[in-house]
Amino acid sequence: MLKVGMVGMGGISTSHVRGWAQIPEAKVVAVCDIREEKAEAAAQATGGTPYLDFDEMLKCETLDIVDICLPTYLHADFAVKALDHGLHVLSEKPVSLRREDVARIYEAASRNQRRFMVAQVLRFWREYEVLREAVRSQRYGRLLSGQMTRLGNTPGWSWDNWMRDPERSGLVPFDLHIHDLDFLIYTFGKPQNVVCHRARTTEQDYFHVIYEYPGFFISTEAAWYDGDYPFQAAFRFQFEKGLLEYKGGKLTTYLPGGEVQTLENEKDANVNGINLPATNGYYNEIRYFTDCVLSGKDCEKVRPEELETVLDLIAVINTKG
Ligand SMILES: NC(=O)c1ccc[n+]([C@@H]2O[C@H](COP(=O)([O-])OP(=O)(O)OC[C@H]3O[C@@H](n4cnc5c(N)ncnc54)[C@H](O)[C@@H]3O)[C@@H](O)[C@H]2O)c1
Repeated sequence: MLKVGMVGMGGISTSHVRGWAQIPEAKVVAVCDIREEKAEAAAQATGGTPYLDFDEMLKCETLDIVDICLPTYLHADFAVKALDHGLHVLSEKPVSLRREDVARIYEAASRNQRRFMVAQVLRFWREYEVLREAVRSQRYGRLLSGQMTRLGNTPGWSWDNWMRDPERSGLVPFDLHIHDLDFLIYTFGKPQNVVCHRARTTEQDYFHVIYEYPGFFISTEAAWYDGDYPFQAAFRFQFEKGLLEYKGGKLTTYLPGGEVQTLENEKDANVNGINLPATNGYYNEIRYFTDCVLSGKDCEKVRPEELETVLDLIAVINTKG
């Protein structure tokens, strides 16, 4: 049984707790958060021992894996510390705010012969996997254009308001847009050109970026709006012979001649459509990482050079926007 220690038991950690609970070969045996109530609540949910200090957890427990759900600016240092302690590490996105940390972390993984993976969840999200497959197989012909959206409200819920601090979160590019950008780099590689517009005040941050590739372009937008704006993630990809749209949690294909296919989860199977298994990206990424640990293989689905390219492009956006 793989013993898992989690650190940072705030917002996203609950999705990881649910994911680990579905992995028969692993168990969360320890949870750590500097806020006692968060550590205690996570201990109740997992049955793991609560800790208020990461070093103490490493000292007292014999772990195999550390799962990092900490604020962004802490990911790299905690990852290197855990790897140097001889543990495998799964870390929430983004890998870091600093490009040089990518090499630092992977060097630590290499010298300790341990697995490291950033949980870029869209790479494990069924609807985005279907889109990627359509691009690669050219099922609907050549790609002409794409549109990706990720919008929400300005966060007010994070511990110590760290998300509103550019030095600790990197704001919208690192918090929201990185999901779509990472998927683009994973699927299409580095774009030829980037066109960016940004509208920003202290209370909100919207930007629009067009990534230009040979023969097609992808228009993206991401925002933290001031107000109770509902979160939404969507895409719309235009192929020569089909339009693939993900909207309101539903994937639909519009084909020439008027045929419309709705890609449903298995529980609402649509006999005429292409049905999707009911999956969860957070579970899928944890399952994949566990399989890499068990097999001793590198987590090749998330490569360091892709993470570096993403950070390079965010640097470009931050300069232009
Ligand atoms: N993949 C996704 O869909 C997704 C969604 C939300 C957040 N995230 C990422 O997850 C990370 C955490 O975000 P969140 O929304 O859960 O933030 P959060 O503020 O809700 O949680 C962070 C937790 O870390 C704890 N913490 C801070 N310093 C600590 C330390 N030194 N030792 C132990 N615990 C410490 C805080 O008390 C807090 O409970 C961020 O990097 C964010 O980008 C990913």
